[in-house]
Amino acid sequence: MRAAVAGILFCLVAAGATAAREFTTLKGHGGPVMGISVNPRTGQVATASFDNSVGLWRSRSPRWLEGHAAAVNTVLFASPGRVLSAADDFAVIDWNLATGEKTRLTGHKGKVVALDLSPDGRWIASASWDGTIGLWPAKGQSGKPRFLDDHDNSVTDVAFAPDGQGLYSGSADGTIRYHRLGEAGSDSRVIVDQGFGINCFVLAPDMGWIAYGAVDGATRVIHPRTGALVQDFTLDRRPILALAHHPETRRLAVGDGHGYVMMIDTARWRIARDFRAMRSGPVWALGFSPDGEMIYAGGLDDVAYAWPVGMLDQYEPAGKETRGFLRDPDEMPNGERQFMRKCSICHALTPPPSRKAGPTLHGLFGRRAGTVPGYSYSGTLTGSDIIWSDETIDALFELGPDHYVPGSKMPMQRINSADDRQDLIEFLRKASAPGEE
Ligand code: HEC
Repeated sequence: MRAAVAGILFCLVAAGATAAREFTTLKGHGGPVMGISVNPRTGQVATASFDNSVGLWRSRSPRWLEGHAAAVNTVLFASPGRVLSAADDFAVIDWNLATGEKTRLTGHKGKVVALDLSPDGRWIASASWDGTIGLWPAKGQSGKPRFLDDHDNSVTDVAFAPDGQGLYSGSADGTIRYHRLGEAGSDSRVIVDQGFGINCFVLAPDMGWIAYGAVDGATRVIHPRTGALVQDFTLDRRPILALAHHPETRRLAVGDGHGYVMMIDTARWRIARDFRAMRSGPVWALGFSPDGEMIYAGGLDDVAYAWPVGMLDQYEPAGKETRGFLRDPDEMPNGERQFMRKCSICHALTPPPSRKAGPTLHGLFGRRAGTVPGYSYSGTLTGSDIIWSDETIDALFELGPDHYVPGSKMPMQRINSADDRQDLIEFLRKASAPGEE
């Protein structure tokens, strides 16, 4: 079951242009995150989860799209106000976000794992483990769905050619095929046959190349017509499970079964960064923010993560109990470690506003309790005459907020060691001082 925005929300950043460049967790799903799509216009993030739902992330709480009867594998922002999803229940759903109306596209006989929308918006393509590609007239279009069955095994990924005249597909049969779409049907040919199953691929919008990832770890870039090898980034990690491309920044992200995200610079064809994203388990889903500066990833955890691309290698792997610290807390001075472990999840040290659950501690010393502008405190704190100082902060954590300021929204928590409290206060004194950011 999914707990509605369970636990502590920390730095849950509103999607969009103003999003802070910091590690972010999208929390609320009740199972692994299998698919991610980022709306290229608004930056809104959609997640597909094992818990049968699609999450649409807004500033504080997600909107849940419920309609699939099994794990949702993939999600795609289609046109404004529409989202497509596909699942283990063999169905594709076309969601109208304004009206809540959902249109089920049924006909596949196996789970559906990937989707694309034609450049003119008239056709939806679906990849299914039944070995076929579904071609569905999109909402408002007439006609019957067609199923292309040229592959010899599960179809794992699909993408329309940017000119809309053709469709590429990848399969567990080890091939990528190009299907020329005509009125009479389609004919297809093999672009590459690499022996091991293809899991995913992306097309450069100028059709300069196709990058693919495969079961055996193959991470290759090929010519889209001849299939000739352009670049080979294969490492010793397998399988490759997710790819994302951001054409403007020329970043190609590759996610694998070992939890790594490799960032390739496609302008110079070199590995720009290689980053262990997940503490445990694979990277199943990847997506870039519209400006390409944040990378979203999903895997075994019931949350999606996002990192600022420019700072990737400074983070330790995310996962249960991690908060994506910039540095290893074990190497921090005690006071800073106390803060990072016990407070940073809810409190910023920077000037307001902050999206964390608690008020920013910027300028804390000498401040009257309950006075950060724009933060909505409990009545206990607004009405309090506590002035925050070494003594009052010490008392807050010696006694615990539940005793020192009963009725406050602050969670019960005590710091038993006087030394730890002293170190924390010393750290806070410096780190919260105005001008110290
Ligand atoms: C789970 C979230 C959470 C954690 C963890 C947490 N706090 Fe808080 N804190 C809050 C909330 C929420 C408030 C506002 C309480 C209210 O309005 O009643 C608060 C209020 C405060 C205030 C009063 C601020 C003001 O403007 O009056 C101080 C000081 C403070 N916290 C310090 C800390 C320190 C130091 C730690 C770590 C040892 C910590 N908190 C850990 C959530 C948290």
